[in-house]
Amino acid sequence: MNALEGIRVIDLTTSYSAPIGTMQLADFGAEVIKIERPYVGDGSRTWSPVVNGEGLSYVIMNRNKKSVAVNMKSEEGLEIIRELVRGADVVVENFRPGVVKRLGLDYESLCKIKPDIIYASLSGYGQTGPDAKKGAFSNLAEAQSGLMSITGFPDEEGGAPTGSGVAFGDSVAGMYLVQGIMYALFHHERTGEGQYIDIAMTDALIGLLQHAVINTSVFGENPPRVGNRDLSEYPYDTFLAKDGWCQLGNAKATDWTDFTLAIGRPDLAEREELKTPGGRWEHVNEIHDIVAEWASQRTRAEIEARFAEYGQLYSPICTIKEMMELPQTIHREMIVDMEYRGMKYKMQGIPLKLSKTPGSIRNAPPTLGENTDEILRSIGYDDTKLAELREKDIIQ
Ligand SMILES: CC(C)(COP(=O)(O)OP(=O)(O)OC[C@H]1O[C@@H](n2cnc3c(N)ncnc32)[C@H](O)[C@@H]1OP(=O)(O)O)[C@@H](O)C(=O)NCCC(=O)NCCS
Repeated sequence: MNALEGIRVIDLTTSYSAPIGTMQLADFGAEVIKIERPYVGDGSRTWSPVVNGEGLSYVIMNRNKKSVAVNMKSEEGLEIIRELVRGADVVVENFRPGVVKRLGLDYESLCKIKPDIIYASLSGYGQTGPDAKKGAFSNLAEAQSGLMSITGFPDEEGGAPTGSGVAFGDSVAGMYLVQGIMYALFHHERTGEGQYIDIAMTDALIGLLQHAVINTSVFGENPPRVGNRDLSEYPYDTFLAKDGWCQLGNAKATDWTDFTLAIGRPDLAEREELKTPGGRWEHVNEIHDIVAEWASQRTRAEIEARFAEYGQLYSPICTIKEMMELPQTIHREMIVDMEYRGMKYKMQGIPLKLSKTPGSIRNAPPTLGENTDEILRSIGYDDTKLAELREKDIIQ
């Protein structure tokens, strides 16, 4: 049994952010009914690269869901959504704030027909405040949250504020979305009450800034960009071995002596000025150059073996291909096979491993409107009515 079996979600979401969250709900057994605009669908269906007629971004974010194509800008379309909400537990949307109010599908309106509904809105900056009405994608949230300003290499090394390699703001907000819905479902279980959940991509990233905010408040200075280094400890950095990149060192100051043994430089452990993390930071470039020289003369396997001998933590910097082939990735079932529209794909598995109610990948993403008839029949629409709505382009 999946943990969320019996939970019905009306999923008005598009693009990347909130669909990441609703996919997690679907992975754990919720019935997620994705509402899409007829003949248009989720914007991610057309995002590049499009393969075999579908954006791969859509394919990766929508497994286990059902697709119902309904024009919500028609009274008959809206009536379908209201009817679906009557039988639902959760509604999720990620339009620009104001859109659902114009449609008459905002929390207050839907509470009138389903008073205990749990309703989650995901936006760039939140539903309230001076920026509420602005649209956003992950890059803008990474920019406004401050995260981008502390990511990347320093100006003096030719660096610039840098985004992450994926749409990180989307993923993090999508995960907070799931968390919020879980808290609300728990509250509903105990009290029978629904509630409104307001998630902003920018808030989600501010929440992730760890010590950057408290450091700034104490020292009055913005944290610098330090590339792959860590301000609290050194060595903790990226080095180029003979056959590729690796990440060496860790954040435990007590390991410095063993680290110096691992790289064959016990003399460094004797130097008074290098005995504290702060002292090592003052000599960061000297230590970097010593370790870089040492790493450049060895393969990654040699470095790994040497570090294992001295209890030092190590990881190769895997390319995506390397990660997909690692025994650990395969063992954890983090890459799975999926067939969609006759094509075979590999995609990520489910990172959450629950012992009694694990998630499962049951279905490929739906084609646009694949489940329109099935779902509308379940709420009383017959063949004649379906044909009439289809004729008027209200459904697809
Ligand atoms: C992503 C974003 C910038 C896109 O902006 P946009 O393309 O202008 O889209 P909006 O959300 O403003 O509006 C969607 C429109 O489609 C309409 N629409 C959506 N689904 C529909 C359907 N099934 N039937 C009819 N109309 C539909 C809405 O009614 C709305 O129309 P309106 O503006 O005339 O009221 C914006 O949605 C946003 O900021 N979302 C929140 C943050 C987010 O999740 N970003 C995406 C990260 S990948």
